[in-house]
Parts: sequence; C-alpha cells; structure tokens
Amino acid sequence: MKHLLNPLDFSVEELDSLLKLAGDIEKNPEKYAHACAGKKLATCFYEPSTRTRLSFEAAMLNLGGNVLGFASADSSSAAKGESVSDTIRVISCYADICAIRHPKEGAALVASSHSSIPVINAGDGGHQHPTQTLTDLLTIYSLKGHFDRLKVGFCGDLKFGRTVHSLIHALIRYPGIEFILISPEELRVPGYIREGVLDSDHIPYREVERLEDALPDLDILYMTRVQRERFFNEEDYIRMKDFYILDQNKMKLAPEDMLVLHPLPRVNEISVEVDNDPRAVYFRQAQYGVYVRMALILTLLDIHVA
Ligand code: CP
Repeated sequence: MKHLLNPLDFSVEELDSLLKLAGDIEKNPEKYAHACAGKKLATCFYEPSTRTRLSFEAAMLNLGGNVLGFASADSSSAAKGESVSDTIRVISCYADICAIRHPKEGAALVASSHSSIPVINAGDGGHQHPTQTLTDLLTIYSLKGHFDRLKVGFCGDLKFGRTVHSLIHALIRYPGIEFILISPEELRVPGYIREGVLDSDHIPYREVERLEDALPDLDILYMTRVQRERFFNEEDYIRMKDFYILDQNKMKLAPEDMLVLHPLPRVNEISVEVDNDPRAVYFRQAQYGVYVRMALILTLLDIHVA
C-alpha cells in the first residue's frame, strides 16, 4: 500500500506518469467518470481549507466515488481528546482512502503508520503540502511544457510557507533549475532547506529582498501569503503582512512569458488588477488541482482505466 506524505514519495518517473494521467483526465473526463464507483474518500481536516478539501472531494465525485469526513478538529472527536492514530484506525473501517490535514508536523506520517488504507498528507503544519506540489507541477508542466532549466522565484513567507518547501524539494530533481528566493530577512527559507537541500545539492540560487530585482529574470513567480496562523505574535504578522504586493506596475518588469502562480488563499500580496493579466494563472492552478488529485486517487487505489 502506498501513501503520499512527502513530494519525494514519487520518483521522477512515477511523477511523470501521474502528470500524464492528469493530462488525460483533463482531456477525457468522461472516460474516468465511474472509475471509483463504490469507493469512498475520507477528508479529515483538523485545519481550515477551501481548495485542498473541496478539490479532493470534487476529484472523488468526478471519479464516481463518494466522500465523507470532517472539516475542523472541533467537529470531530479530536475535540474530546482522541488521537490521530486512533482516528485513522476507525476511518480505515469506513473509507478506502483518506486525505488528512493537521497543524502538527508529522501528523500524516503518524496516521499512515496506523492506517490500513492509503493516507494522503493534505498539509502538516509548516512542513509539507505534497498535493499542492503536484498541483503546482501540473500547472507548470501544462503551461510551460517542461521543468528543465526554469528560473523560479519564490516570494513572500518562505519561512512558514510549506508549499514553497515542498515545491523546492520536487523541482531540484530537474536539470538546470535555478531559484531566486525573495523574502524579508525574518521570513527566509529555513536553514534545513537552504543548507540541507540547496547547498548540499549544489542548486544555484540567490536570496534577494526586493521583488523588482528578481522579476526581469524569472520564468515562474510563485507568490505566497504571510502565514498569520504560524506567527507567535500578531505585531510581527502586521509588520510583515504587506511587505510584498505584486501589482501591474511591477508586472511591467517581468518577461512576457513569465507565469504567476500562487497556492491561494491570497490576502493582499497580489493586487486584483493582476488577475486579468494573461500571465496570472493562479485560478487555473486551482483547476489543475482537481485533475491531479483525481490522478492521485486512481494511482493510490491502483485503479487503471483502459
Ligand atoms: N492551497 C491551499 O492549500 O488552500 P487551502 O488552504 O484553501 O486548502
């Protein structure tokens, strides 16, 4: 039985197959409409979510399956003190596959070790968010056609942004990839990514504070919001929250074929006037999230559609 806990749980070849399957699902949705008939997906969300939970549910419904679950810790027996390991043992009796989001790093790993069904990490604290990474990869692959030799800028909260950490891990496996890390000093990527991943794998990168300094060089700009829920005090959050605002004036500095991605939700970091720029693909990205989660459910349930 396979779980998805970390974006590196799939090899480059497995990822390639998954993205191709997602592409086929996009083109031929009717072919997959009954692929999961009789199967159930449980969504166990201990933290708020719009996209991840609902795109998982849409994915299973599109495959002809059913969904059950809870949308907050308060509406589950976690509020009475039940552990994640007990909860997943019970969920294993009710469903065929489970997507779990939890504020604690490693919660999905704990769940997987007590589960008799595939477990998907739908975000664990500030650690990883592998299905957002699959979504980001499918968006880039579909719109750029490749991953090799891309120059990718990550902008905003690179300290707490788990989508950034997951996508860096995934992209370093492709040749010629380069990063520009755009953040204030206090929100730099953690040392375990900088030294443990980028330096140790000899990945070219530079760190800058001004978005304007990076924009002319980028193929992809990955914007992130400042993660209010991970700050220890509100004053620091307020000081940092509007550090970057991407607007049409700044977009004038960017190449014509640069893509702007954002995992969403957006707060203020992208002005709404950018939404109509053809380079702004963050809402298309949310749609790709459904196709890739459909492909993931089929892969983990080992369902093949001829
Ligand atoms: N991108 C993302 O994880 O969004 P949600 O928090 O709404 O699921």
